[in-house]
Amino acid sequence: MKRDFIDLWDLSPGEIWEIVKKTRRVKEEPQTLGKPLAGKFIALIFTKPSTRTRVSFEVGISQLGGAWSFMQEKELQVARGEDVKDTARTLSRYVDGVIVRNHSHTWLRELSRYASIPVINALTNLSHPCQILSDIYTLYEAFGEGIKELKIAYVGDGNNVCNTLLVGAGMLGLRLFVATPEGHEPNAHYYAKALEFAKESGAQVELVHDPHEAVKEADVVYTDVWVSMGEDSKEIDVFRPYQVNEELLSHAKSNVRVMHCLPAKKGQEITEEVFEKHADFIFTQAENRLHTQKTLLSFLFREPQA
Ligand code: CP
Ligand code: NVA
Repeated sequence: MKRDFIDLWDLSPGEIWEIVKKTRRVKEEPQTLGKPLAGKFIALIFTKPSTRTRVSFEVGISQLGGAWSFMQEKELQVARGEDVKDTARTLSRYVDGVIVRNHSHTWLRELSRYASIPVINALTNLSHPCQILSDIYTLYEAFGEGIKELKIAYVGDGNNVCNTLLVGAGMLGLRLFVATPEGHEPNAHYYAKALEFAKESGAQVELVHDPHEAVKEADVVYTDVWVSMGEDSKEIDVFRPYQVNEELLSHAKSNVRVMHCLPAKKGQEITEEVFEKHADFIFTQAENRLHTQKTLLSFLFREPQA
């Protein structure tokens, strides 16, 4: 049966750990996976800009022996109203997998329902699972099994990255404190899923409004843009107390690590000073998208066991 990756919960917690642990070897020895995509062709369909996700997938597919084609959705007939299910059924006859960056999560779920090939979410309005899978690897690489003891704080907008981080923490038994302004909390469904997973995993997931409370004694502080793609007219003044700056970080542990999925809007969610001080970790986080997605691709496209 084909495997999709639309939300983190399309993998089990055990499968996520398997991918995370394998990625360490993939990073150290890039040839370790061989060429599991040899003879396979992947379509990348994007409606929104992308640097990291697009390029890391294109490079990763090539390194795994596969071929790809990048298409903007506006160049396809879906942009003129073709049914998503017809697009899904057509692509399934030509290609071996599809990687989609699209605004509507519902549209992507519909595509995956009618596609007989693996569908990977490269970001929607609600979810960014490839990012968080990779971020979990970055934390594992830095902290090993100590990852479960960390206090992780996310401050800023309760957006797609925040929703997915909540679910990741819930699934894997992590300790996550999320601070957002009122009215900008993460999506209720993703929060409920995180709490449901937390009952099994023992995770601690807390939503607060006070950024200092979230950051207090934190080992890791994560932020993302206040205005996501597709939200161009958003009012940002309410987010100012959530800026990751030296004052906010003075409440965290002295050896705090700062994470940002990028792209960053310096002067808004993070100061230039903090960004540069933590640039090495932030760009390691960006680099790890390549290694983790290669492991993910080899997992989703592995031949069925006899
Ligand atoms: N973090 C991330 O997904 O970056 P891009 O928008 O550049 O792909
Ligand atoms: N929340 C951001 C993430 C970009 C990778 C956005 O959706 O624009």
